[in-house]
Amino acid sequence: QHEAREQIIEAHELAAKLYHYILMNTVHGQEALAYLRERSFSDKLIEQFQMGYAPPQWDTLVQLLMKRNFPLRLMEQGGLISARHQQEGFVDRFRDRVMFPIWDRNGKVVGFSGRIMGEGQPKYLNSPETMVFNKSKLLYNLHQARPQIKRTGQVVLFEGFADVIQAWNGEVLNGVATMGTALTQEHVTALKRLTDRVVICFDGDDAGQASTLKSVPMLEAGGLHVAVAMLPDRLDPDEYLKKYGAERFRHTILAAAVTPAKFQLLSLRKHHTLLEDDGKRRYMDEAMKVIAPIDSPAEREMHLKELSAQVDISLEALKQECFEVRQKLQ
Ligand code: CTP
Ligand code: MN
Ligand code: MN
Ligand code: MN
Ligand code: MN
Repeated sequence: QHEAREQIIEAHELAAKLYHYILMNTVHGQEALAYLRERSFSDKLIEQFQMGYAPPQWDTLVQLLMKRNFPLRLMEQGGLISARHQQEGFVDRFRDRVMFPIWDRNGKVVGFSGRIMGEGQPKYLNSPETMVFNKSKLLYNLHQARPQIKRTGQVVLFEGFADVIQAWNGEVLNGVATMGTALTQEHVTALKRLTDRVVICFDGDDAGQASTLKSVPMLEAGGLHVAVAMLPDRLDPDEYLKKYGAERFRHTILAAAVTPAKFQLLSLRKHHTLLEDDGKRRYMDEAMKVIAPIDSPAEREMHLKELSAQVDISLEALKQECFEVRQKLQ
């Protein structure tokens, strides 16, 4: 079992070198290299994150693994190759994709995510769950981000690894991402081992906002202090960084991260119309559920003042209402 794991990891390390070599040094990699540069991944970033290209042929990696005497059945279990349908032999799992190696906490390559160039499904093809690759535990870039997480006492949690990479380029060196799965209890535990402060910086689209709302209570339950960085115009961090630059990202997005309560209130405000009394009432009820449990009286009052102006109800009335909701909570 131990031996099998070692061999699978060794094969991933080899595959990462192969894909990177093809990208950087062969004519087959030229289109992929142009794609990466077009996305503003500099050569320095391409090196740092060992990006590569898996060519369209059926068995480029299979041939190399055979030459190096890796047992192909095991390589299939490791998710690098697949058995042919109704025939002998194996084919590469990743073909004609830009390859992003995924490292475990020790910096060993344990999986890949392969992006299609341009449109098409799936956008990202990931390694399957294997004995070395476990998406519900793994945080992308943790091995490189760890020193800066310790130094700054906080971690920035992104949705996608393109975001992690582009943020790294902008000198945000404490960023990690889940691998296309929702945040799990195991992720929370892994984060808590390193720090107790998390800045969530998910995509500005509806999906990103929804996962933010889901992730906050999980992180808080795990004993982490949470702040939420918000992106305008449904941009994701990668897009924002390219559009507005790293300075602005660090200063007006990350440094301006808000409390989870503030984030929830802003999101409620977006989803309610205050034109008639009915809408106002519902908005107020929902907002009260967020405000009432807040421990700090000053913070409660700050939110109540804002609510008062929005729904045009006196601060006194809202305070009374808030008091009553708090009573019921106890
Ligand atoms: N993801 C995935 N499979 C997909 C789509 C997404 O595994 N078919 C994961 C990837 O880890 C991706 C993350 O979910 O990084 C966030 O998805 P999305 O925002 O759609 O992708 P981006 O990271 O923005 O990718 P890109 O910028 O390359 O379009
Ligand atoms: Mn290189
Ligand atoms: Mn998205
Ligand atoms: Mn995205
Ligand atoms: Mn993106």
